[in-house]
Amino acid sequence: MESLTPRPHRAARPAAPLTGTLSVPGDKSISHRALMFGALAVGQTRITGLLEGEDVLRTAAAMRALGAEISQDGADWLVAGRGIGGLTEPADVLDMGNSGTAARLLAGILATHEIYAVMTGDASLRKRPMGRVVEPLKASGAQFFARAGNRLPLTILGARDPLPITYRLPVASAQVKSAILLAGLNARGITEVEEPEPTRDHSENMLTHFGAVVKVTQAGRGLIIRLTGQPELRAADVVVPGDPSSAAFPIAAGLLVPGSHLIVEGVGLNKLRTGLFDTLREMGAPLAIRNARTQGGEPVGDIVVDYTELRAVDVPPERAPSMIDEYPILAVLCAAANGTSRLRGLAELRVKESDRLTATAALLRVNGVRVEIEGDDLIIHGTGSIPGGGLVETHMDHRLAMSALVLGQASAAPVQIDDASFIDTSFPGFLNLMRKLGAHMEAA
Ligand code: S3P
Repeated sequence: MESLTPRPHRAARPAAPLTGTLSVPGDKSISHRALMFGALAVGQTRITGLLEGEDVLRTAAAMRALGAEISQDGADWLVAGRGIGGLTEPADVLDMGNSGTAARLLAGILATHEIYAVMTGDASLRKRPMGRVVEPLKASGAQFFARAGNRLPLTILGARDPLPITYRLPVASAQVKSAILLAGLNARGITEVEEPEPTRDHSENMLTHFGAVVKVTQAGRGLIIRLTGQPELRAADVVVPGDPSSAAFPIAAGLLVPGSHLIVEGVGLNKLRTGLFDTLREMGAPLAIRNARTQGGEPVGDIVVDYTELRAVDVPPERAPSMIDEYPILAVLCAAANGTSRLRGLAELRVKESDRLTATAALLRVNGVRVEIEGDDLIIHGTGSIPGGGLVETHMDHRLAMSALVLGQASAAPVQIDDASFIDTSFPGFLNLMRKLGAHMEAA
């Protein structure tokens, strides 16, 4: 929903050392899935550490509108599920706000419920391609009606007698994989998804946790995932780890500001999400993991960050799925590093909350950094210092907003952004948390 209030402008200016111990909000991917799987299970699911960001609250509202009972018990969230195939027709349009994950995964669920539903989103989400889920989901027997280019608003008539889907993903996308698996829950037989490269496996992990049978086999560099349809999904408690994609911002700030020392506690370390941390180590950052443990079926640890002079890096395209949301903040770090960095194979960034490839290049350029886009690669010429002084257009994209504010901690002149409001989609409390660590971020 568009805000009617003036958009808040924020500015960041160079910071003194950042110090402290912090935790970041719950993982966005796992939070969406916990609400959705909880709504499809029989019994009551308790979710601890749910991300209470705008994107996830949209999913909660949609699952409520489809008949699940969702309530809060202190800091925990409770979901009384309807069982597979048990969701009911919503009384109104489902507004998924800024969230591509919410929209795409929900399209999968709705494809195999025999109900009529209409889904929309904000101006950013209404630009994003839905064909990547609509086309494969049609094989279930569902019908879809969308705007030109398969854009939202999208009308879905779910299949009466849903068929299982077999599909090879043309792009590495956990959202598309998950949409097909979610559709497969209410189809008799085996749903099969082949992915060319492994992508985040939170859906597979959580399906198993809720009692479904999911088999994963290697296929070249990728995987084949097979789900047995119409399982009895049983409610199960979910503990959501801290989001590594959110942790990336304070970690980057700690690496950029001389003298900084931070400990980020309870960060999810699923290896299909930690490409950024591998990359930072290649750049010379001594990230240490303490208290490695398993929490709610996912690996978790505390990350210790100390300021480091970074060197340039060459990131191979096959690493992209494990750090797909981290390229804007990585680009900021590359701008501060010495030497030319090349981030390869970033075509998927063009269809995120904004065209993140173009917008990340613009974010750096307006702050005096030399950047080129060559095909799908982003090339950043780091000189070890960032002039800054730019006003960054954030295009309704939370990760661009936070990346620009972090850049401002290490630039010679302050950096401004046009709109801070979208930060709440994934990282409510970001500005206050960063300020507590010593960052300089303020209303302009
Ligand atoms: C997500 C998958 C990624 C990521 C998004 C969350 C998920 O999208 O960019 O923020 O929860 O499955 P794609 O799978 O489309 O790359």
